[in-house]
Amino acid sequence: MPHLAIETVTLRYDGGAPVLTNLSLDIRSGEFVVVVGRSGCGKTSLLNLAAGFLKPASGSVSVDGRKVEGPGADRAVVFQNDALFPWLSTAENVSFAARLAGVAPAERGAEAERLLEIVGLAGLGDRPIWQLSGGQRQRVGLARALAANPAFLLMDEPLGALDAMTRESMQDLLLNAWDRSGAGTLLITHGVEEALYLATRIVVMAPAPGRVIRRLDVDFGRRRLAGESARSIKASPEFVAAREDLLDSIFEREAA
Ligand SMILES: Nc1ncnc2c1ncn2[C@@H]1O[C@H](COP(=O)(O)OP(=O)(O)OP(=O)(O)O)[C@@H](O)[C@H]1O
Ligand SMILES: [Mg+2]
Repeated sequence: MPHLAIETVTLRYDGGAPVLTNLSLDIRSGEFVVVVGRSGCGKTSLLNLAAGFLKPASGSVSVDGRKVEGPGADRAVVFQNDALFPWLSTAENVSFAARLAGVAPAERGAEAERLLEIVGLAGLGDRPIWQLSGGQRQRVGLARALAANPAFLLMDEPLGALDAMTRESMQDLLLNAWDRSGAGTLLITHGVEEALYLATRIVVMAPAPGRVIRRLDVDFGRRRLAGESARSIKASPEFVAAREDLLDSIFEREAA
């Protein structure tokens, strides 16, 4: 089972003070790990290490025991802003990597259609990107990431730019896409409710230097996938208590 391991890493930019120290994190297939923490605590830096865009000063990043030397198709990244190609159609954006790999057009088209269906955009493959809403574009970004059938899905505030209602429906979409793909998922968010709703495990970071101060396992996402309504989950006493508890950790408040 694929296993992404970040082990006791320290990260510095240009030899400056450490941005991350002694940080370890494991992500396995079927896990949905959500990282929360105050602005500037190093969340994006951590994701960039996992993606292979950055290298640690010490410690290691590996997949199944093999050291990560750079970005790879096993670790797909979804960016905060969609990062789509505006001159390509929706379907062509989704199947861009397959085109580079020389996959025949008919096969690419069928695969793009399958992925667009998963993200709720069936039938919109021929649309130019500029005719899609922000939420739809973000879904194309997710479909493109899923196209590589990645072992790991890495997302840095993928829903951060969306309005509250679109964001809630996208959360369900992320849960379903994660459930169907089985990809080990790492998501960064500023939303405490979002973290609780999606995660199997929440990792809380604190700043200066960036480090993990808490890990907690939750099962609200699994309850949602089992059919309980979002309203019922978010109004449940367990959810409300977990939210307060998590806010206390993030802001390092004394528990009342
Ligand atoms: N390319 C860079 N060069 C130098 N310092 C950087 C660079 N990128 C980030 N930093 C610094 O590293 C620290 C962590 O930044 P990072 O972007 O990882 O935080 P973050 O938790 O993602 O913050 P936010 O919640 O605001 O997105 C910050 O102090 C930031 O100023
Ligand atoms: Mg960030």
